[in-house]
Amino acid sequence: MQRTVDYKHGKIIMIDQTRIPAELATIEISSVEALADAIITMKVRGAPAIGVAAAMGIALAARNSVTDDPKQVFEAMEQAAATLKTTRPTAVNLFWGIERMLDAAHAALEITSSADELRDEMDHLAMAMVHEDEEVCRILSAYGAAVLPTEAHVLTHCNAGALACVGYGTALGVIRAAIEHGKKIHVYVAETRPRLQGMKLTCFELLQDKIPVTLITDSMAGMLMQKRKINCVIVGADRIAANGDVANKIGTYSLAALAKYHNVPFFVAAPTSTIDASLATGSDIPIEERSHDEITHIDGHRVAPMGVEVINPSFDVTPGTLIKAIITEKGIVMPPYKQNLK
Ligand code: MRU
Repeated sequence: MQRTVDYKHGKIIMIDQTRIPAELATIEISSVEALADAIITMKVRGAPAIGVAAAMGIALAARNSVTDDPKQVFEAMEQAAATLKTTRPTAVNLFWGIERMLDAAHAALEITSSADELRDEMDHLAMAMVHEDEEVCRILSAYGAAVLPTEAHVLTHCNAGALACVGYGTALGVIRAAIEHGKKIHVYVAETRPRLQGMKLTCFELLQDKIPVTLITDSMAGMLMQKRKINCVIVGADRIAANGDVANKIGTYSLAALAKYHNVPFFVAAPTSTIDASLATGSDIPIEERSHDEITHIDGHRVAPMGVEVINPSFDVTPGTLIKAIITEKGIVMPPYKQNLK
């Protein structure tokens, strides 16, 4: 599949994920405002993809600034950073991508007085992050392939696939790598209310790769585990605290608790850029509250009775105690996470 996000000739090219599975269409983004809108409306989503897209947004701001003064270019980048940081609060990769670009720009300013050199440097770093994301997904997936059962009935939630990264994926990357290693895998995909990333995106990806897949509603997971139909769960992550608590798509915690009860191993696959060592526990992770229309409406039509109270937290936090291992590009981390994540 083509890259989820790419950067060419001063423009961001991205797959519009809101149109999948109806069509696989790309859009071109040439302003920071358009990028911020694409992140908020989830044309691009998934922690690693958001991180790389935000880094591209900083490069774009440098390109779009009309000045010969590198300090003014830097100011434009800082403004873009402020805008992009308000888009989605939970996935730490967004902030990681932006800070990495600003740090590099800061260092470049020490050695260059050319605005164009600074812009080139930013373009190069954004592209380096594209290649790095592809490589990191491949490496962590190869590690993760070893932990899946030889005959695996794997449950996954949301989309931690190629569409959530530049390509290949984290949780789905592990599944892809396990199949490449000759393992027999059947994937159960939870639809993932309310935005249905599991149904729309994960099923789409797996069908494209001809990986056996069964779609279930979120509420079916317990019954399937009780009937021993699932022998492994693997998900991605949006932010991992220092003690191994993991923020991921709403519903992940319920699956982890069910998996513990039924003695099914529960794995998290994520790049180290998703680890936020500054947060001691998951209770410090900011949880995005999205529009209540996502719950009350289906396909633009209101289905909930008028006047009902609604909440829509987009993520929940799974305690590290429920997680068998965290699979990263630096290796597989086992509990105790507070010690081993370091
Ligand atoms: O709201 P989304 O679709 O951006 O949420 C995405 C997830 O929760 C993914 O599981 C997570 O970002 C990991 S993606 C490799």
